[in-house]
Amino acid sequence: MNLAAILASTDSGVIGNEGGMPWRLSTDLRRFKRLTMGFPIIMGRKTFDSIGRPLPGRLNVVLTRSADWAHEGVRTVNLEEALAIADQHEQAFVVGGAEIYRLMLPYCQAVHWTRVLADIEGDTRFLWDRSEFELLHDEAFPAGEKDSVPTRYEIWQRQ
Ligand SMILES: NC(=O)c1ccc[n+]([C@@H]2O[C@H](COP(=O)([O-])OP(=O)(O)OC[C@H]3O[C@@H](n4cnc5c(N)ncnc54)[C@H](OP(=O)(O)O)[C@@H]3O)[C@@H](O)[C@H]2O)c1
Repeated sequence: MNLAAILASTDSGVIGNEGGMPWRLSTDLRRFKRLTMGFPIIMGRKTFDSIGRPLPGRLNVVLTRSADWAHEGVRTVNLEEALAIADQHEQAFVVGGAEIYRLMLPYCQAVHWTRVLADIEGDTRFLWDRSEFELLHDEAFPAGEKDSVPTRYEIWQRQ
């Protein structure tokens, strides 16, 4: 299984606020699209709700405990089924939110981390233990015209 997480967070672990993301990062969205296109993206039901529609060109996999929840163009799963889907593909991505990162990071071999270089408040946090990973790539991204904050793009590989 080749499963990787894609995460944007501040150093204090903020990943979201009021159901959305507390920054505007066009550079990051473009990278997200480039990385994930053609592969399954695995997300929590709340993250799906915040996006509001399946993302095109990718198998959209949504974790929910609800037997009734369904959406056109979405595969509804539990953890076991999400892992089976990841197993059946050359690559799959865990794309949040906090509950799903917590649940699935132990199965991830890599983390694509957009490190938000600003002290931003939020109501959803995810802090991860980098000691289990080694840094493979680190690149600075000053805030472009359509970015509200500067970032670093770091790729961490499980040791
Ligand atoms: N910065 C980033 O990179 C990033 C990425 C993604 C999301 N976000 C932000 O994160 C926030 C949402 O995160 P969140 O932690 O509140 O929610 P979430 O992880 O997106 O979704 C939580 C939901 O997932 C389902 N779930 C959780 N554990 C499960 C399990 N073991 N089995 C089956 N289903 C399970 C439940 O759905 P049901 O309630 O339907 O049962 C639960 O309510 C938003 O603000 C979003 O914008 C940020």
